[in-house]
Amino acid sequence: MKFGYFDDERKEYVITSPRTPLPWINYLGCESFFSLVSNTCGGYSFYKDAKLLRLTRYRYNNVPFDSNGHYYYIKDGDTIWNPGWMPCKTELDSYLCRHGLGYSTFESSKNGLAATLTAFVPLGAACEINKLSMTNETSSVKSIDLFSYVEFCLWNAMDDMTNYQRNFNIAEVEVHGSEIYHKTEYRERRNHYAVFAVNDAVSGFDTDRDAFLGPYGENSAPKAVCSGESGNSTAHGWAPVGSHHLKLKLEPGEKKELIFILGYVENEQNQKWSGLNEINRAPALAMLNRFNSVEKADFALKELSSHWETLLSRFTLHSTEDKLDRMVNVWHQYQCMVTFNMSRSASYFESGIGRGMGFRDSCQDLLGFVHLIPDRAKERILDIAATQFQNGGAYHQYQPLTKRGNAEVGNGFNDDPLWLIAAAAAYIKETGDFSLLDEQVPYDNNMDVATDFMEHLRRSFHYTLDHLGPHALPLIGRADWNDCLNLNCFSKEPGESFQTYGPSKGPVAESIFIAGMFVRYGKEYVHLCKHKGLTEEAALAENAITDMEKAVIDYGWDGEWFLRAYDAHGQKVGSNECEEGKIYIEPQGFCAMAEIGKEQGLCHKSLDAVKQYLDTKYGIVLLQPCYTKYHLELGEITSYPGGYKENAGIFCHNNPWVSIAETVIGRGNRAWQVYTRTCPAYLEEISEIHRTEPYVYSQMIAGKDAPTFGESKNSWLTGTAAWTFVNVSQFILGIRPDYHGLIIDPCIPPTLQAFQVDRIFRNIHYHIQVHNPDGVEKGIIQLMVDGKVISENTIPYDPSMVGKTVNITAVMG
Ligand code: BGC
Repeated sequence: MKFGYFDDERKEYVITSPRTPLPWINYLGCESFFSLVSNTCGGYSFYKDAKLLRLTRYRYNNVPFDSNGHYYYIKDGDTIWNPGWMPCKTELDSYLCRHGLGYSTFESSKNGLAATLTAFVPLGAACEINKLSMTNETSSVKSIDLFSYVEFCLWNAMDDMTNYQRNFNIAEVEVHGSEIYHKTEYRERRNHYAVFAVNDAVSGFDTDRDAFLGPYGENSAPKAVCSGESGNSTAHGWAPVGSHHLKLKLEPGEKKELIFILGYVENEQNQKWSGLNEINRAPALAMLNRFNSVEKADFALKELSSHWETLLSRFTLHSTEDKLDRMVNVWHQYQCMVTFNMSRSASYFESGIGRGMGFRDSCQDLLGFVHLIPDRAKERILDIAATQFQNGGAYHQYQPLTKRGNAEVGNGFNDDPLWLIAAAAAYIKETGDFSLLDEQVPYDNNMDVATDFMEHLRRSFHYTLDHLGPHALPLIGRADWNDCLNLNCFSKEPGESFQTYGPSKGPVAESIFIAGMFVRYGKEYVHLCKHKGLTEEAALAENAITDMEKAVIDYGWDGEWFLRAYDAHGQKVGSNECEEGKIYIEPQGFCAMAEIGKEQGLCHKSLDAVKQYLDTKYGIVLLQPCYTKYHLELGEITSYPGGYKENAGIFCHNNPWVSIAETVIGRGNRAWQVYTRTCPAYLEEISEIHRTEPYVYSQMIAGKDAPTFGESKNSWLTGTAAWTFVNVSQFILGIRPDYHGLIIDPCIPPTLQAFQVDRIFRNIHYHIQVHNPDGVEKGIIQLMVDGKVISENTIPYDPSMVGKTVNITAVMG
């Protein structure tokens, strides 16, 4: 069952019923001010950091679900309704929610009154704009009471929901006409406040939640709205809110448009005040003045649209597959940008107070957005590298505001350092900018011990070599990519963190997954060493890679597939010998991508085993058989009920690894099958089962062992976004950046007979046409560059073509 449709022309997903299985959300903002907005107007805003600088309050896991947001109430006679349906849930005569690139629009109507609400965060300003239009479609005059409503958060979202003995005393506001200011803690240690304003005169306002809602009131029937009168209240402690009351008279056919602005403002320490206890409003007024008319707001929305147009024009596909085109051209890349902005901090499943930026997560996210924002990607790489330790290890997480490593989570996740090589290689391949390697970068943010970035990579590579176990395979430490496989943890007490409990390393537990990473990204390291003329180091690295391949073949092969690990007792994990958890997906994907044992047929065999043992109709599960008991020696993975999360869930993140690996061995049909099975647009028809948004990936889909097989959770903030875009653009469509040019190497299903890609690569526009007349899965028989046949499948970068178009024709066969 569908709950909407894709509007490809406008690059929107249009939701046609407010009663989606779960809230289907969008993200507003691409710089410093961000809002989450659901299809019923739920959500919240924050400035830069969802934990420390939250502007509006949201209650996770509340009843009803998704019950706080930026709301508008329309009181038309006795009927009270909201353009986004919530929170009154009044039955609407019509309803649409259009989630677009950086904006969401709600179009609804009730009793002959049509409302259109467009919410977006403009470029270059720290605010959210809400444009609300109302049209009287009846033949009689309508007198409307309109109320806006936001609930302010006392900035630190964690403290806001725990420290009531203090918080019920500290709220302070100021009201000036149609401007409501939230200035809690501004008198003391903060230099920032929030403003919520409307560009018209108000007939009342409220800033005290109880006054607005009424005693024991709720936001589905606020006292002020029901009575048609604001309380003109001033919050003194308790819960500060912002609500404007406007009385509107609409003639038949008349349309009224209002601009509401919710903004974040900072003042210099010596410019905080303009009078006794009166905040300096000047910067707020300047901000409001930029957007406070319909023309100005519309102009800002246009600027935002062209920003996205330009961004997404860097990779555009035209094929015969609508679903593929829309995912590649719009939604995959859009989701990659959201992971760039949010990492794993704020979604409807991530509370914004939990995790900082993950080292491995951020490095992988970068693979998906480096082609869109290479400069910011470089900055991100340098920020991440600055949290590395001198021994090459790394803090597992860092805080976005301070950019410092997070000591509570610590280090010892032994895959982390290798992801830095992956990110660096991706950046250099995209840009050709080898100067990254010469940047001076500190360790643990200490500039006294800074080295060039190349040395960071050396330490990353050697970190694995310095941490080898009894089989000469990499020690796993706290965990590798699979955060829940905790082989050195042995946690028995409830509440202990599986990730940080116990020693950060053990001398025995080894990871075949890290071995696969080492081989794959080690080869990139060798390339970079050679580029820098570090011949000896390159030779050393090549030997280490050969040794690692040998160790995997000798000790990491189980007969039909790659083993997952050796535990702290030296026992096999992910082996046919195990009772549960005999085969895991991660080493099959990564060792095959790294081409370990390819000649001996191990890659084929392992991928066949994936198909045979791990495939389901909704995607590939992480392992089989699922764990039914808690295994002390394996940790969190066995704490989940079977079929959920890492315990045999369909963890979408590693499905693309298998798909890429399939392209490495040339099986385009299978790569395609793996891609489409978890791809949101291909699941739109089963939205009642899948439940999360049909335009973006979720972290996990319940596996076949779960009672809710096919139901997904944790949408938006997942490394799946980046890996999927890498998979489909670079390996299935085969347009792959390399150090010295652009590789054309598609691996597609035979049914795809032709496609066209426009790719902006190092400021050259490549217009690429691929023909597949014989319906093969892989192989180019002719490649023409501007009419000339070339023998390689890499189009060498030619600086004289910068700013121009290069025409490529590739014939498969
Ligand atoms: C984490 C990743 C981890 C994955 C698998 C995600 O929630 O953000 O760092 O690799 O789970 O455990």
